[in-house]
Amino acid sequence: MKGFITIEGCDGVGKTYQTTCLREYCKKNGYDNVVFTREPGGSDIAEQIRKIILDAKNEKMSDLCEAFLYSASRIQHLQDIVIPALNAGKTVFCDRYVHSSYVYQGLGRGLGLDKIVALNQLAVGEYMPEYTVFLDLSPEQAFSRKGGADKTDRMENADLQFHQRVYQGYKYLIEQDPSKFIVIDASGSCEQTHQRLIDALKEKGIL
Ligand code: TYD
Repeated sequence: MKGFITIEGCDGVGKTYQTTCLREYCKKNGYDNVVFTREPGGSDIAEQIRKIILDAKNEKMSDLCEAFLYSASRIQHLQDIVIPALNAGKTVFCDRYVHSSYVYQGLGRGLGLDKIVALNQLAVGEYMPEYTVFLDLSPEQAFSRKGGADKTDRMENADLQFHQRVYQGYKYLIEQDPSKFIVIDASGSCEQTHQRLIDALKEKGIL
C-alpha cells in the first residue's frame, strides 16, 4: 500500500529511539503529511490488548492465543489509525507490523510461518506495507549494548535462542523479497543509524 512504511528489528536494537528521531526530523523539516504509530497498540482498544500481551504475569498465555491477540490488536489499529491516515493521503510510519508476527510467533514461537502468514492475511487483507525498514543488529549485540533484557516485558524476557530465531527469520524474509525491504545497519552510533535511515528514505522517495 503506497505510503505505508513499517519499521522492524529485534528487541533492543533502538527501534523506538530511531522512530522518535525520525519523527523529530520530520517535524523540523516540515514534513507535515506523516503519521507515526506503533504496534501492538497505537489506538485505544489496541492499547488495552497490548497490556494483556506484554504483561509478564501472563506467563500461561498459549502461543496461539498470543498470535491471535497480536492480530486482533492489528485489525483494530488498522481501522482506527492506519486506514484513515492513508485515505487522507498521509505517509504512515508504523513501528512493527505483520513481519513481527511472522518472525516472533511464526518462527520464534515455532507456530509456523505459513500459519501466521495466513492468519495475518485474514487480518490485514490488502493493507501490506509499501516498504519495511529493517534495523539490522543481532540480538547478542542489541542486548549487550542495552545491558540485558527488560524483565518486566514478557517478550523481551524470552531466551536468547528465541531472539536468534527471530533475527534469522527477518533475514530469511528479506532474502525472499529484497525489493520490499530497506535494510539499515544499526551497529554504529545512534546518530550514524539515524543518518543512514534518512538517506535511505530519501533515496526511495519516501522523504
Ligand atoms: P515493545 O515494547 O513495543 O518493543 P519494541 O520497542 O522492541 O517494539 O514490545 C513489542 C513486543 O512485541 C516485542 O518484543 C515484539 C513483540 N511482537 C510480537 O511478538 N509480534 C507482533 O506481531 C508484534 C507487533 C510485536
